[in-house]
Amino acid sequence: MKKPEYISGELWTAKQCQGHSIHEISYRACFKPQLPNYFIARFSERGDTVLDPFMGRGTTPIEASLMGRKVIGSDVNPLSLMLTRPRLNPPKPHMVARRLDEIPMDGVVDAAAETLLVFYHPRVLQKIVSIKEWIRQREKDEALDEADDWIRMVCINRMSGHSPGFFSVRTMPPNQAVSVEAQEKINRKNNRRPQDKDVKEIILRKTLSLLRSPMPEMRRKMRFKCASARDLGWIADESVDLTVTSPPFMNVVDYARDNWLRCWFAGIDAEKIPFDHHGKKENWGKFVRKTLREIQRVTVAGGTVAFEVGEIQGGKTMLEEDVMNAAAGLPLRVEKIYINRQRFTKTANCWNVSNNTKGTNTNRVVLMRKR
Ligand SMILES: C[S@@+](CC[C@H](N)C(=O)[O-])C[C@H]1O[C@@H](n2cnc3c(N)ncnc32)[C@H](O)[C@@H]1O
Repeated sequence: MKKPEYISGELWTAKQCQGHSIHEISYRACFKPQLPNYFIARFSERGDTVLDPFMGRGTTPIEASLMGRKVIGSDVNPLSLMLTRPRLNPPKPHMVARRLDEIPMDGVVDAAAETLLVFYHPRVLQKIVSIKEWIRQREKDEALDEADDWIRMVCINRMSGHSPGFFSVRTMPPNQAVSVEAQEKINRKNNRRPQDKDVKEIILRKTLSLLRSPMPEMRRKMRFKCASARDLGWIADESVDLTVTSPPFMNVVDYARDNWLRCWFAGIDAEKIPFDHHGKKENWGKFVRKTLREIQRVTVAGGTVAFEVGEIQGGKTMLEEDVMNAAAGLPLRVEKIYINRQRFTKTANCWNVSNNTKGTNTNRVVLMRKR
């Protein structure tokens, strides 16, 4: 096997906070829009189809759509669709305001929801429960529309966080919900109690912020599914031009734990989501091989796969070697390895990475071509 070329440097971090505003929702282990932008610009054209089978908050499909590509996206986490779909079809802010005025805010906080009073003021919790119930009923009645879908997406994003713009008392960043017990300790240590907040105003403020960049005329060609990347049977053979994706990095992130509060709001049992989570490299390699087999099947001849893996265990484990091994024998030629080095500056805080010792310090992308 010919050795792939390594390309290393600060390839797409220079403008790290300057992506389109519609991307600005948090999700654990999401990548910056500049990453998919880099590969979409170089390896696809307007009208081509771009796939992400581990789409998370939807960074790849949204960036691809902004760039005039057709998009296909999936993830095992049902939150992923709820976060992605509405931002490809945003309602006007006045529609969101009108819908918020229609939702009766007199919901009943049951005993189970009462445990959440450690995060929320009673009046805030009542409003959250009311919106949750409204969405549940609208879905049941098959009446969920763009405004409901948008409100759910914003609420999922505002459930908990470290600034006044979230529904909760001050806690961890929004992509990492702590347990009730841990929040009790945080409140005690900081002598804080949840304050009353204007839930509608928080939703509207975030709506205006997400929609502040001009929205280009987006292609409405999109297909999404809540599904495992292990089986992309719902996607036709040779129908994708480019995949830009990033799987779970072994067991670095506990997606069920980090998303429990968001899942509660969305009516999902986080413990039942079949996230791939592997402590052993051998098992992770088998999982990656399975997904690469599927990705190559749906890729057109000559099409491209950009497969991002972080740097884990403080840089001791470089997963690109394992991705190359997983691709061996499949009709995928590994051409290049891109290593994007991130300089951590103050602006890195907008991605919830606070210094150079935490999180992922390099993005490592294995670029493969379908033979
Ligand atoms: C590194 S994150 C991807 C983040 C995404 N690039 C973004 O910008 O938000 C990995 C994703 O893989 C998902 N996942 C875990 N196991 C999966 C599987 N077997 N099939 C599909 N998605 C899976 C997780 O839910 C998570 O969203």
